Formats: sequence, C-alpha cells, structure tokens
Amino acid sequence: MSERAIEARPSAAAGATAWRHHHLLDVDTLSRDEIELVLDTAAEMRGILERSVPRAPALRGVAVVTLFYEASTRTRVSFELAAKTLGADVVNVSATGSSIEKGESLVDTVRTIERLGARVIVMRHASAGAPYLAARNTAASLVNGGDGWHAHPTQALLDAFTIRRHLGRVDGLRIAIVGDILHSRVARSNAWLLTTLGAQVVLCGPPPMLPPGMGGVAEDDLLPPVQVTTDLDAALRGADAVMALRIQLERMGTSEAPVSRAYARDYGLTVARLQELAPRALVLHPGPMNEGVEISPDVAHGAASLVEEQVQNGVAVRMAVLYLVTGKGA
Ligand code: CP
Repeated sequence: MSERAIEARPSAAAGATAWRHHHLLDVDTLSRDEIELVLDTAAEMRGILERSVPRAPALRGVAVVTLFYEASTRTRVSFELAAKTLGADVVNVSATGSSIEKGESLVDTVRTIERLGARVIVMRHASAGAPYLAARNTAASLVNGGDGWHAHPTQALLDAFTIRRHLGRVDGLRIAIVGDILHSRVARSNAWLLTTLGAQVVLCGPPPMLPPGMGGVAEDDLLPPVQVTTDLDAALRGADAVMALRIQLERMGTSEAPVSRAYARDYGLTVARLQELAPRALVLHPGPMNEGVEISPDVAHGAASLVEEQVQNGVAVRMAVLYLVTGKGA
C-alpha cells in the first residue's frame, strides 16, 4: 500500500488482508492481520500528515458525525482532524446543546443523525455497551470512541502504533499497564490488542483498582488471561514499555476514591522506579494526565515519554480507521 494508492485508487490500498468490519466497537474481534492492516494503513496516513499540505481526499462526499456524551479533547479533535484531512464533511454533536438535553433517546439520536446523512458515527458514552446498542440501530458505521469502563479501540490501536514505531515490533515485548485497571477502557482494549500482537501484558495496581484474579491471571470475561499483580516493582522489572493510567474518579463512588498522595507514593511512576525497566523502555499514558499522582512530571516529560507522540499518532490511526470502515481499503 502507498500514500498514492490512498489518494488515487483507494481500492488498491489494503494490501493482502481484507477489512471485513462495518463497525469498530472494540479490538477483541480483530485478527492479528486486521490489526496490522490498521497499523500499516496508519503509517501511510502519517506520511500524508507530514506533507506541506496534508490532504488526501479519499473520503470526499462522506459525512462523519462525532456524537460525544462524555468529555473528550484528544479523541474528538483527532477524529475531526482525521476526517477533514481525508476530505470528509464533519459535524460534532455533544450531549450538551443538542436534543439529548430534551430527553431524546440514544437510538432516536443515532437514527436522526443517520437520516441527516451520516455515513460514520463516532460515539463516546459513559455507559459500557452503548455503542453496541447504537450499532444495532443504524446503517451508518459506528466507531466506538470510548464506552464507560469497557473499550477504547482507537486508543489501543494508537498505543500499539506508537510502540511499534519506536521498538519495531510488539511481538515478544513485555508491557506493564499500571493504575486504575478496574475502571479503565484503555486497559481492557490494550490487553486484548497487545496480546493479539504477541506481547506479554501485566496489569498492576492497588487491590481496589484491579479486576478479579489479583496475584495470578485476570478472571474477568472482558479481559484476556493476562497477569495481574499488586507488586509494582515486579510488574516493571524488565518491561519494554509501561503505560500509566489515570484514576477514573468519575467511575467511582466518593468512598472508593484513593488519597492522591498515598497513591503517588505506592503506584506513581517516578524516575527511580523506571530503573526497573528494560534499557530503552518506553513510557506511555493515554491522557489526560494527573502529574504528581500516577506519573511524576519528570517522567511525563522525560526522554522515555511518548505521551505527546501518542496524541499526534491518534490522527493517523483514526484516519486509517475511517478509511477502512467506509470500505475504502476493500
Ligand atoms: N485518551 C483519551 O481518550 O483522551 P480524551 O478523553 O481527551 O479523548
């Protein structure tokens, strides 16, 4: 596949693997070849973004609507820029200021947006499973931009893309995900995606923030059988990459919320703790960060940190996803 193929003959852009998904709801339904197709397509999209005029009108005439019931900066803006870079028409809808405030249901909202002409709906919702309900009720392609604690497929894809760019592969790597695993859609989608690509994933956090299976293998229907531990030093030892996660206070009761200072002391990523990692190990965070809690400022902005590049790669990966779900890679 080449950038030229994306512009001039979209049907030539997919390479050997066929894309067979109308929606992208999570990564647990993607094969290894399909994940690699997204990452390879994203690499071509990154090439387009690096041009002096970053435009390739593969989605000209396609209407993309972002429908966000929950706050977002990175995901919403990067989907909008991704769609515009590919020549699509983009409309943004949020719960505030739309008829959702008047009580319009999710299904009616999605059907209305489809009737208005949307070919792709990118949706974020606080309830796990909401994009699945939406997908059953629309002919548009539904792309999940994050549903509650369940899944965030494009975040996991951009994380894998970023790791692969720096280490050349994901297969065989040891990757630690540290923090509030229990409430994290990012942890769940990354656990599926990274293990499908052949990485060894270990999930680490304090007991109230871990899924069942602590001290062994995850016993959670929404996770693959990855290692789960409360021992941060053991999780970090020899890891090729570590991903810190924000405490998802919005998904906890006030009685469950940890004290930030104690959390930072026991589970915050610090320069001293990074000594446990493998040489040239990478530091990632999906954002937004709470510096001084789950990650110290000198780690967040240090030489090993790829946090800003993750944000940047989000545009290329979302271009690839929009391109594929609209059938341009077929
Ligand atoms: N990582 C992520 O989903 O960030 P936003 O909430 O800003 O979209």
